[in-house]
Amino acid sequence: MGSGTGNAIVKYSWKKLKKHACYFIYYKKKFEKLKEQFDLLKAITDDTQQKVEISKRNNEIISDEVNLWLKKVIELEEKFNNIKNNFDRIVENEKYCIPSLIFRYKVGREATRKKDKTLKLLDQSKFQSFSHTLDPSAVNHPSNIDFVSFGATKEAMQKVIDALNDDKVNLIGIYGMGGVGKTTLMEEISRKMKETETFDMVIDVVVSQNPNIAQIQRDIADVLGMRESSNKMLATRLKQVKKVLIMLDDVWARLELVKEVGIPYQEHKGCKVILTSRKAETCNVMEADVSVEVATLSKEDSWQLF
Ligand SMILES: Nc1ncnc2c1ncn2[C@@H]1O[C@H](COP(=O)(O)OP(=O)(O)OP(=O)(O)O)[C@@H](O)[C@H]1O
Ligand SMILES: [Mg+2]
Repeated sequence: MGSGTGNAIVKYSWKKLKKHACYFIYYKKKFEKLKEQFDLLKAITDDTQQKVEISKRNNEIISDEVNLWLKKVIELEEKFNNIKNNFDRIVENEKYCIPSLIFRYKVGREATRKKDKTLKLLDQSKFQSFSHTLDPSAVNHPSNIDFVSFGATKEAMQKVIDALNDDKVNLIGIYGMGGVGKTTLMEEISRKMKETETFDMVIDVVVSQNPNIAQIQRDIADVLGMRESSNKMLATRLKQVKKVLIMLDDVWARLELVKEVGIPYQEHKGCKVILTSRKAETCNVMEADVSVEVATLSKEDSWQLF
């Protein structure tokens, strides 16, 4: 090996070493710089999200550019939070004189890398096009712009509406694989029921895999305008509403709707419940009067949706 090459290697390694040492030594400065830029990005994101809400309310379509940008900010936020957690850990450790060599290095390196990403997103926040109005005929269309009524959902929707009109039915279960369109269907049914004023009140609640009964009760109480949300209070109040529909999305296991939550659907004929679940079994354990399957998309359905 010639001495020229050797020199180059030494120079290169020295440069690299310096860079890594800087991560380690100036981690705090690097984190603070990142935070400053990221806070600015967050403020712009909040404004952008508000603008998105307003545009959506005006039936406008948000441009792909904006949607993609927001998605990237959310991804970056997760990474920023990780760096911040590590930074806080160092501060905490150093209070007790615990060395945090690896964390310092990690924070310094990640803060440097993510600062570039933050700057790039800041630069991209001057959107070329923000949103555009829908085709005028679609604006006047009363249905949900996101909902496409195709074979499988159309059938399921009809079955649910028939069941809602049946006096003997109080609990309806909708089931189907993940991503098949249960939530979308629930939103459409909810919108339809509100629009046609079939019920005096429609209450939408997301249950999820780890249900929090108190939260479910609060969600219902909020719609009823109540401060208290005990099972007894809810049941009493719900019985006063002549026709009320409660929609529970994403149920995974049996919920004691009457005893624990306070939904008096068995005693009060005007109170109906629709729930969705990935498993047909949930409809059975919940003792649904009717179970409706949302089937997976057929080839034709996929094309229509596409
Ligand atoms: N009828 C439809 N019209 C338009 N888009 C739909 C329709 N059904 C489903 N989609 C789209 O498919 C995706 C998945 O739908 P959705 O979230 O409703 O599924 P899901 O059955 O609730 O899934 P999960 O079990 O994970 O909750 C969404 O992006 C949704 O917009
Ligand atoms: Mg869902």
